[in-house]
Amino acid sequence: MSSEGSRATDAEPLYGGRRPGRVTVRDIAAAKARGEKWPMLTTYDALTAGIFDEAGIPVLLVGDSAGNVVFGYDTTIPVTVDDLIPLTAAVVRGTKRAMVVADLPFGSYQASPAAALQASARFMKEAGAHAVKLEGGMRVAHQVEELVAAGVPVMGHLGLTPQSVYAFGGFRVQGRGEEGERLLHDAKALEAAGAFSVVLEGIPAALGARITEALHIPTIGIGAGPGCDAQVLVWQDMAGLSSRAPKFVKRYADVAAVLRTAATEFAADVSSGAFPSQEYSYS
Ligand code: KIV
Repeated sequence: MSSEGSRATDAEPLYGGRRPGRVTVRDIAAAKARGEKWPMLTTYDALTAGIFDEAGIPVLLVGDSAGNVVFGYDTTIPVTVDDLIPLTAAVVRGTKRAMVVADLPFGSYQASPAAALQASARFMKEAGAHAVKLEGGMRVAHQVEELVAAGVPVMGHLGLTPQSVYAFGGFRVQGRGEEGERLLHDAKALEAAGAFSVVLEGIPAALGARITEALHIPTIGIGAGPGCDAQVLVWQDMAGLSSRAPKFVKRYADVAAVLRTAATEFAADVSSGAFPSQEYSYS
């Protein structure tokens, strides 16, 4: 790409822009430099991913929250790399523009930088992921360094990291009081290790704003207040498909009600014989 072309791309907004091709880590860095706020959603299948891509969501996360909203577990702990690879591949196939980030599930990266690289390479080679996300700060800094050195863009994740739910004693807000200093330290460690962005989950809004100001890479908040550079939600929470959602979720639709009505009307038509009529039959 010419330097002229690079400058033109850097000026295009991440959301609502008309830049050609997939969103890259370079576009995300440029958005932070411009002070642009941007949206991210989780996605787990090709059709939904295609809709979010058309809506202009620049980054889609194939989260291990699939454990909850796709596989029906209570936590993300049981999710495996093999579970997420076909979902990630479907999201990549269903999109043209979004950067697709694959979540490294519990147990796939903690043991060593080599383990992290092995799992990440599978997501990139077998599913076509453009980046990976992992949970933790200082304790995974070597993993982040190894991945970045190997050419893998890494998104960090701090705060109420769901893979540590048992260590936290439940889904509880993190980073209150002195613990906030440790989270700030962790965020700086991720930035120094080469992460291109960091998710901040379930922390006080003031801490979210403080970490955002302290970093050169963008923060992506989920229950971390309005001071973050970007915001992410699990799509089933955002669209009202999940039955319960945390306090920080705004429901933008009632997809559960739409589906319930459609299923009820379909069932009534089948039992009355109204469906399929001539219109829906072959001659
Ligand atoms: O797994 C997930 O969906 C996540 C987001 C909530 C950030 O980690």
